[in-house]
Amino acid sequence: MCCDPEWEAAYKRFETPEEEITKFTRRLKRFGFDSLPKDALVNEIFCGRGGGLVALERMGFTNLQGTDLSDTLLEEYQGDATLHLADCLSMPFDSNSFDIVIVQGGLHHLPRIPEDLDTCISEVKRILKPTGAFYVVEPWRTPFLTFAHAVTDQPLVRKLYAKGDALAIMTARERVTYEQWLNHPKEVLAVFDKHFVAKQSQASWGKLAYVGTPLLDASADVVSSARVGSM
Ligand SMILES: C[S@@+](CC[C@H](N)C(=O)[O-])C[C@H]1O[C@@H](n2cnc3c(N)ncnc32)[C@H](O)[C@@H]1O
Repeated sequence: MCCDPEWEAAYKRFETPEEEITKFTRRLKRFGFDSLPKDALVNEIFCGRGGGLVALERMGFTNLQGTDLSDTLLEEYQGDATLHLADCLSMPFDSNSFDIVIVQGGLHHLPRIPEDLDTCISEVKRILKPTGAFYVVEPWRTPFLTFAHAVTDQPLVRKLYAKGDALAIMTARERVTYEQWLNHPKEVLAVFDKHFVAKQSQASWGKLAYVGTPLLDASADVVSSARVGSM
């Protein structure tokens, strides 16, 4: 099952696996993964070729799973995690089974916002233990993102800078879902708030970094993620 060969080719050119792993490690450390129990059962959804799983392995995590819709990307993963070829809108996992679910750059590929996002996020809540946590890094419209797009759209920049060209191709191939995602920040955060209590919700450098815990029916601890902080 392959999603879009041209997008996947540009994605592979955008960063080498090692560059990706360095980026993921930095992000995970910012989220505080250094101090989390290393035997936590983690599922990285929309995991692609598994760079995030390799970063977690190198940090000492021993109980890793990854889920993605693309067999060609999953085949590139080299590591010990258990991989699942599955649609994140309907995941083949028991309820209350994971300590941590992570998504990095996957939700903005969903075709319908908020409908598919709601389906996916309610699946995440279902598979997480009530004590679990959901970590999200997704593109977010900040001044930096607007600037980066303006620069990488320039033909000369695309010619001279291979990464810029790859980014421009990826953005063009996913433009409909990407722009839909960027244009509906309130709807996105409302879906998160429907299922999770925001512990962190911060936009900077073109990314949203969000951490939520499952919203239990009697939870009095609701912090609206509509209040996204920015740095
Ligand atoms: C931008 S890539 C991100 C991959 C990885 N998280 C990373 O940051 O390198 C988006 C991934 O989402 C996957 N994907 C898109 N729709 C999906 C769905 N409905 N269920 C599972 N995976 C999906 C694609 O196959 C692709 O690997």
